[in-house]
Amino acid sequence: MSGQIPIVRTLAGLRDITAGWRREGARIAVVPTMGALHEGHLSLVRAALAEADRVIVTLFVNPRQFNSPADLAAYPRTEESDAARLAPLGTDLLYAPDADQVYPEGFATTVSVAGVSEGLCGAFRPGHFDGVATVVAKLFLQTGADCAFFGEKDFQQLHVVRRMARDLDIPIEVIACPTVREPDGLALSSRNARLSQTERAIAPKLAQILFSTAERLGAGASTASTLERAREAILTAGFRDVEYLEMRAEADLSPLDVFDRPARLLVAAWLGDTRLIDNVEVPPAVRPGKPSVTPRD
Ligand code: PAJ
Repeated sequence: MSGQIPIVRTLAGLRDITAGWRREGARIAVVPTMGALHEGHLSLVRAALAEADRVIVTLFVNPRQFNSPADLAAYPRTEESDAARLAPLGTDLLYAPDADQVYPEGFATTVSVAGVSEGLCGAFRPGHFDGVATVVAKLFLQTGADCAFFGEKDFQQLHVVRRMARDLDIPIEVIACPTVREPDGLALSSRNARLSQTERAIAPKLAQILFSTAERLGAGASTASTLERAREAILTAGFRDVEYLEMRAEADLSPLDVFDRPARLLVAAWLGDTRLIDNVEVPPAVRPGKPSVTPRD
């Protein structure tokens, strides 16, 4: 399917359309985004199209999840080209609400998810996950979707959203999609466009170090010293600062000193003025003839 994609800017307009879809018995998917769409976003849309009868992509640059007005102002806004990329996939609707449709005058509610919002990005971006949980709760309720698609690229966000939907009894299935990467390993991100040519050449080293470190941890190497070496390698590669580099339990993000259950290695690091985040699975080592590290659950 190609051509134009309908764009709706009001909650009433959105509900008109979804009510019709519901009467037809359609399964509805939502893919929340802040626009500036790249192949990572489009992979979520394709997964949604494969799973549901109707797919809504939302585009809202959510002021409540930014830590500085400058970061919010610098966020790319490319609605026209975003719509042009979505139409040929067969996306049914682009919901790009006006700000007052999300935060009307007098709006006073914050959704705050304890536990999984703390630590990692939560420690360095105060209030960020409250902003995310609040807007995603609204987008779930406004669209009334049956399923929602999120990228593993933002692994902590995925956990925050899952916990929020469960805790608030929002009847939606949260589906995770793998991180889409450049051929050199760099995870796709709208922030990559900010990198200079020199920084762009350094950037993939983050993923490369992450993968090799995860493999070492998976093979049973000591966690503290392996992470310390990896941190040094990231700095030596040319990153300015490593905010965190941690192994966490895949299931609930609880800190792990020993690899004894399915785990993720997560990182945030600054390259010049750009903050990059990434995460990879810690792969359990499988050695023929020797017992492998067996995840407990
Ligand atoms: P945004 O950064 O636009 O990302 C929208 C979705 O795309 C998120 O689920 C994110 O994890 C996913 N994504 C980004 N890069 C990806 C990649 N390389 N591979 C796979 N998926 C990728 O995340 C947000 O917006 C906002 O916080 C939002 C959830 C929309 C709430 O405002």
